[in-house]
Amino acid sequence: MLSRGGSHFLSGHSGCMLLFFLGIGSLIFLHAEAATKKYQFDVQVSNVSRLCHAKPIVTVNGQFPGPTIYAREGDRVIINVSNHAQYNMSIHWHGLKQYANVWADGPAYITQCPIKTGSSYVYDFNVTGQRGTLWWHAHILWLRATVYGAIVILPQQGTPFPFPKPDSEQVLVFGEWWHGDVEDIVKQGNAMGLPPNMSDAHTINGKPGPLFPCSEKHTFAMEVEQGKKYLLRIVNAALNDELFFAVAGHNMTVVEIDAVYTKPFTTSAILIAPGQTTNVLVHANRTPGRYFMAVRPFQDVPIPVDNKTATAIFQYKGIPNTVLPSLPQLPSPNDTAFALTYNKKLRSLNTPNFPANVPLKVDRNIFITIGLGKSVCPTCINGTRLSASLNNITFVMPQTGLLQAHYQNMKGVFTSDFPDRPPKAFNYTGAPLTANLFTSHGTRLSKIAFNSTVELVIQDTNLLSVESHPFHLHGYNFFVVGTGIGNFDPAKDPAKYNLVDPPERNTIGVPTGGWSAIRFRADNPGVWFFHCHLELHTGWGLKTAFVVEDGPGKDQAVRPPPKDLPLC
Ligand code: C2O
Repeated sequence: MLSRGGSHFLSGHSGCMLLFFLGIGSLIFLHAEAATKKYQFDVQVSNVSRLCHAKPIVTVNGQFPGPTIYAREGDRVIINVSNHAQYNMSIHWHGLKQYANVWADGPAYITQCPIKTGSSYVYDFNVTGQRGTLWWHAHILWLRATVYGAIVILPQQGTPFPFPKPDSEQVLVFGEWWHGDVEDIVKQGNAMGLPPNMSDAHTINGKPGPLFPCSEKHTFAMEVEQGKKYLLRIVNAALNDELFFAVAGHNMTVVEIDAVYTKPFTTSAILIAPGQTTNVLVHANRTPGRYFMAVRPFQDVPIPVDNKTATAIFQYKGIPNTVLPSLPQLPSPNDTAFALTYNKKLRSLNTPNFPANVPLKVDRNIFITIGLGKSVCPTCINGTRLSASLNNITFVMPQTGLLQAHYQNMKGVFTSDFPDRPPKAFNYTGAPLTANLFTSHGTRLSKIAFNSTVELVIQDTNLLSVESHPFHLHGYNFFVVGTGIGNFDPAKDPAKYNLVDPPERNTIGVPTGGWSAIRFRADNPGVWFFHCHLELHTGWGLKTAFVVEDGPGKDQAVRPPPKDLPLC
């Protein structure tokens, strides 16, 4: 019997085995036994009211945000997704490594076809070698606007956090809200070849807070007790906005990003890109009162953005709701310096228990440019539509799941000739370029040899405009060994890499007009999506996928597909 929703925290089987040695009279902790956590996700349409308007939205189990999945490192998680909504859809478990288990990854048309209305699919995976905060979201159309939730992976029973134990913890998921129906808004934008209307509010745990109208009931508050320490598990589920977050009057200590422990550091605000997660410790050590927690976008180029601030309340016990909270000082919306310094502070913990196994030798160097541009669109207002490309290729979504095509050696679905460099080198971050440098369309993937080490440099360009892009790789964590502003210099920049304790994550914010260098070992066979996590850009084609070949071992190959795999 599958349990419903996230309320069954650690329901299921007992996670640990304790043995009593009666003769000795002592209690000995022997080992933690993996448990199976089961969830039922009913994807359904529910009426939800925000900002004085009610509208039908797609939810999981009628909850918004959706249920939090709780597991311990080592557990098996089984989620039966039943689709009762009018959209065919799929769900991605963002940041879960899915070792040799790519059929459970979830991006529609990449690892599976969508789950049709009225059908179900079982996602079955083990949580191996990861602990911390991740999240899940719909991975088709813009449905993740309302179909998302957190994943909390606790350390194995008996294994402490590598930081002071918090008295309590709280999940905070940031999102975006539109007055209208999001799919309609996107359709309108696409028909005209323009970006869809930007969101009308940001949200914290689905609620915009009291700076918006009709928000009395739509304000998230967390009660704290003076002297206690809290672990905030923060997820940026916004579709298009990189966000600053701060708590008035309280500093935060960053201890984990993307389910990897970091060297702790204290900060007055954090920066978090769509797709990323950040765990921080907050000590409730101020005069008891009501303090706003606030999120607002970071945008350092003149591209319009929903700049509204969402708030929630950090509320000391016993303080009446009549006390007006104070707002935190957030970095100004275009504070590039804050963004660069903040990201520089992120380092892997790199201890014997949690080593940073950075690949030191590179088998394959890949250089990918990010380009925005225009494509011909006879039906659009200006005869063109905005598009985006990687190495001048705008990705075309296939009609068949790429993984299925790979597994069955089907011809004609994709090609494995995605180039390791752009067709022509140019001054990537010089004066703005409007020419669409030989952009082509195609479903072109990169084939990677099993267990080879890859260095991937992602280079922003000034094609139409520079911009910061959060790039997400499915199926892997990678090390961010270097980053810089301007053009990547292969002769000079590698000498400055951090190969000791670089941040390890699954989503990297490539800086505006700059580059990021990431490294990973391709030890997870399958077809793994790689894309900008700004939904706007994903839709414009800022994506590709890596085909990581099977290894020689029995456990190093893509397994046969599950029986209930949705077909196209
Ligand atoms: Cu969080 Cu491919 O996505």
